Amino acid sequence: MTTLFRLDASILPPTSSSRALADLVEAEWLSTHPTSDVVRRDLSADPIPATAWADAVTSNFTPAADHTDGQRAARALAAELADEMIDADALLFAVPLYNYGVSQHFKTWFDVAYTDPRIDPQGTALRGKPATLVTVLGGNYAPGTPKEGWDHSTAWLRRVLEDVWGLDLRVVERPFTLVGVNPALDAFADVAADLKQTAETHAVRSGREIAGLAASAAS
Ligand SMILES: Cc1cc2nc3c(=O)[nH]c(=O)nc-3n(C[C@H](O)[C@H](O)[C@H](O)COP(=O)(O)O)c2cc1C
Repeated sequence: MTTLFRLDASILPPTSSSRALADLVEAEWLSTHPTSDVVRRDLSADPIPATAWADAVTSNFTPAADHTDGQRAARALAAELADEMIDADALLFAVPLYNYGVSQHFKTWFDVAYTDPRIDPQGTALRGKPATLVTVLGGNYAPGTPKEGWDHSTAWLRRVLEDVWGLDLRVVERPFTLVGVNPALDAFADVAADLKQTAETHAVRSGREIAGLAASAAS
C-alpha cells in the first residue's frame, strides 16, 4: 500500500485555490493508487505551536535528563512531522502567499520538522522523494509586472524543499487568484483565466508524474 502525504496551509479552506489545485494532484494520485492512504496535515485547523521550534532547538543543548516538558513535546512533535514525510511515497504541499512572504504556519511547521536529525542539515531521509508544491498568489509578480520580485515565498519554498531536503520537486503556481475577488483587478480577468487553466493542467500532470514515480519505485 502506498501513502501520499498532503499538507495544506490555506487559512481560508472553503474558498481555497491552493486546495482546489492540490485536490487535482491528489485525484491523479488516487487514480493510479486507488487504495493509497492520504496522510493529511492541515496547518489551518491544527497549527504548529509557535514555541515548539525554540524548545526543539534548545533541547539539543541540554542533557536529556534535564529536558523540560515543552522540550520533550517539541522533540516528539518534530519526529512525528518527519515520520509523516519519511513514511510517505510522495509529498504534496499547498501553500499560499501571505503578506508578500512565506505562510507563517508553513514556516513554523518546516522549522520544527527540520530539527529532526533525519531531515536536519545533515539528514538525507527525504532525498529524491517525488513531490509537488502548489503555490498560489493573489497578485502577479511575473517579470515586467509593477511588483516583480515581491513574492518572497515561492523561491524560499523551492529552496528548502528542492535544495535543502532534496525532494524531486514539481512546482504548480497560480498567480492572480484575487482576480474576480478584488474589483481593482477586473481588467485582468482574461489573463487570470488563462493562468488558472495552465495551473490546473500542471497540477494534473504533476499528480500523474509523482504517482508514476512512486509506482515505479514500488515495483
Ligand atoms: C491575510 C492575507 C494576506 C495576503 N497577502 C497577500 C500578498 O501579500 N500578496 C498576494 O499576492 N496575495 C496575498 N493574499 C492573497 C492570497 O495569496 C490569495 O487569496 C490566495 O489565493 C490564498 O490562498 P487560498 O486560495 O489557497 O486560500 C493574501 C491573503 C490573505 C488572506
